[in-house]
Amino acid sequence: MKIQAPKGTRDILPSEIHRWQYVSNVFAGLCDCFGYKEIRIPVFEHTELFQRGVGDTTDIVQKEMYTFDDKGGRSVTLRPEGTAGVVRSYIENGMYSLPQPIKLYYDITAYRYENVQKGRYREFHQFGVEALGAAGPEIDVEIISILYMFFEKLGLKQTGLNINSIGCPACRKPYLEKLKEYFRPLLNTLCADCNNRFEKNPLRIIDCKNEGCKRFIEGAPLQLDNLCDECRIHFAGLKAGLENLGINYKIDSKIVRGLDYYTRTVFEFVSEKGGSQGTICGGGRYDGLVEMCGGPSVPGIGFALGVERLLMELDIQGVTIEEPQAPDIYIATLGQKAVDLAMDMVYKLRGCGVKAETDLMGRSLKAQMKYADKKRFSYTIVIGDDEIEAGKGVLKDMRTGDQKDVSLDSVVDRLKNQVKERDAAAR
Ligand code: HAM
Repeated sequence: MKIQAPKGTRDILPSEIHRWQYVSNVFAGLCDCFGYKEIRIPVFEHTELFQRGVGDTTDIVQKEMYTFDDKGGRSVTLRPEGTAGVVRSYIENGMYSLPQPIKLYYDITAYRYENVQKGRYREFHQFGVEALGAAGPEIDVEIISILYMFFEKLGLKQTGLNINSIGCPACRKPYLEKLKEYFRPLLNTLCADCNNRFEKNPLRIIDCKNEGCKRFIEGAPLQLDNLCDECRIHFAGLKAGLENLGINYKIDSKIVRGLDYYTRTVFEFVSEKGGSQGTICGGGRYDGLVEMCGGPSVPGIGFALGVERLLMELDIQGVTIEEPQAPDIYIATLGQKAVDLAMDMVYKLRGCGVKAETDLMGRSLKAQMKYADKKRFSYTIVIGDDEIEAGKGVLKDMRTGDQKDVSLDSVVDRLKNQVKERDAAAR
């Protein structure tokens, strides 16, 4: 029986890996410029971390986690996201006693048992950033500006930033009472999910995608109109900071986000044409999370971006990522002596940073040249007994067809220099 990859997972094949590597490198380079250091967190954590951190009433914890007992009988869960793990690490490693803010980024896989569709997978990839220890709106602006610059660097244009504030515990409580008052008489017209949310997490009703519920949600009171003074000032600071950097945004007072830890700022970058899976990235402030996870009272903010959705968006907007340079030289061989010499030459060439290969399949000379052509090598050289005796071979430029007699001794140096010059020109 043929075994296939589990539903919702996919291989990233060598033919497409350059796109993944490119976006990953641009993201890492940018985070570095902003002063964010990479953190690598475990793929699985104690289940309790996500129950507490992401929130017991969220869809993620209720329906989507890959949770199992390990052989020691402990309940563990494959990370459905990165924030909870980063916060756990921040506390566990005492990062709160280092100079703040602690600015971290990650490039991870995450796991959610979801209904699989385009842009929605069970194993997916996230680039994320978390900044812990700073409460003011300046860090919110900085976090959002990373994304803005990232999209700009990738050449993405029509990607809209939507922001909202969902308040703090002080203004959330009276707001939720107001919200419940509004929805209570409508309960028998709302869907089963909303009825469920009404008691456990009424804020999430605002986010319901059910058409029947939407028309009632239209008239619901919004947290943005019910902020306390401090939250209002914070949100004004965020808007002013974004405007100062020339970052366009829209206010979408219906963004509530699907994870429980958010306070104040929440935001999403949304594709204009990406349809129902158009949210490329989401994030926000989580001022109570560190404390909730057993640490001191430390504010935090971050985002995570879906890499699959980012790559889809690049396609939608017609942004192509060039394949990396073709390999440099293929040494074709005729006879065992040539094989030995070629093995030695490619070893030396590789040591100098030249992408060099030789035959490993015992192919005929014709088949070797066909292979070199297919693999788009820049140069080939053929070595047989005659060439070894003369100490010379013909170096062929595969793009121009130019051929040159070269001494075999000089091939390594010649290629090394050529590659150096080319790399310098590319820079
Ligand atoms: P999230 O909105 O759950 O937030 O996920 C962030 C992004 O991950 C989404 O906007 C989407 O692009 C991508 N994503 C989520 N689920 C899937 C899936 N099943 N398949 C493909 N892509 C998906 C978080 O994860 C928070 N931890 C973000 C955050 C960091 N907030 C503060 N810090």
